[in-house]
Amino acid sequence: MAQEVTKPEVIRISTADDLAREAVDRIVADAQRAIAERSRFLIVLAGGSTPKRTYELLSSPQWADKIDWSKVYAFFGDERFVPPDDDRSNFGMARETLLSRVPIPESHVFPVPTDKATADDAALAYGATLREFFEEDSYPPRFDLVLLGMGDDGHTASLFPGAGTLGIQDFWVVWSPPGTLPPPVDRITFTFSTLNAARHVLFLVSGEKKATALADILQGDASSIKRPAAGVQPTDGTLTWLIDDAAAKELND
Ligand code: 6PG
Repeated sequence: MAQEVTKPEVIRISTADDLAREAVDRIVADAQRAIAERSRFLIVLAGGSTPKRTYELLSSPQWADKIDWSKVYAFFGDERFVPPDDDRSNFGMARETLLSRVPIPESHVFPVPTDKATADDAALAYGATLREFFEEDSYPPRFDLVLLGMGDDGHTASLFPGAGTLGIQDFWVVWSPPGTLPPPVDRITFTFSTLNAARHVLFLVSGEKKATALADILQGDASSIKRPAAGVQPTDGTLTWLIDDAAAKELND
């Protein structure tokens, strides 16, 4: 029998700052629940610019003090194939806005190893890191929370429209050539298999430029080939879209 896909929760919030506050509340709730139930919280951080405000708020005492960071483990759903101190690095951004500001043990942070010779080598190495951490070989790793953004074209992580990576099921992490949106560098990205194994996926989508792709996905039944974010359908988990008014502009009320 086909796996019943849970309907996404769509939360519309007026401003980008309020969206970040809502996101932090949900991240804290997921962290507290995971730590209470399994004594650890496995989070996958998103890249790009939207999550920056969320990470900054999460690192502030008002929220950071609600999480036992000694039990948190941080991974990256995608990465640009650049050094960590490059302005385009997702790890660099997360380190600056969150990871350097909270007492998460350094050994609990798993950046993509972009010092490898090629993006493919980096993806293979990251896959090995995940297999070692999860002591699993056969099933995609199940993270407690996967944070995702969405590009203006409907990409998510570094799964780009029409890309061959969209069809890959038997790898957890793969490399990708650049998409059409900047930065034009090779990427390393989780596949849908890994994203959809999560207990909870939380999209953070802000700004008018996302409105067309978002409407295609939430109301237009867009294919995951054209709008890859549409392919995020947790098989045994929940899906939440946090969207601001600007991104929701083309949604029918
Ligand atoms: C990346 C991100 C990517 C991002 C979207 C939205 O590496 O670029 O992982 O998937 O989430 O492109 O980016 P913005 O938040 O900057 O709009």
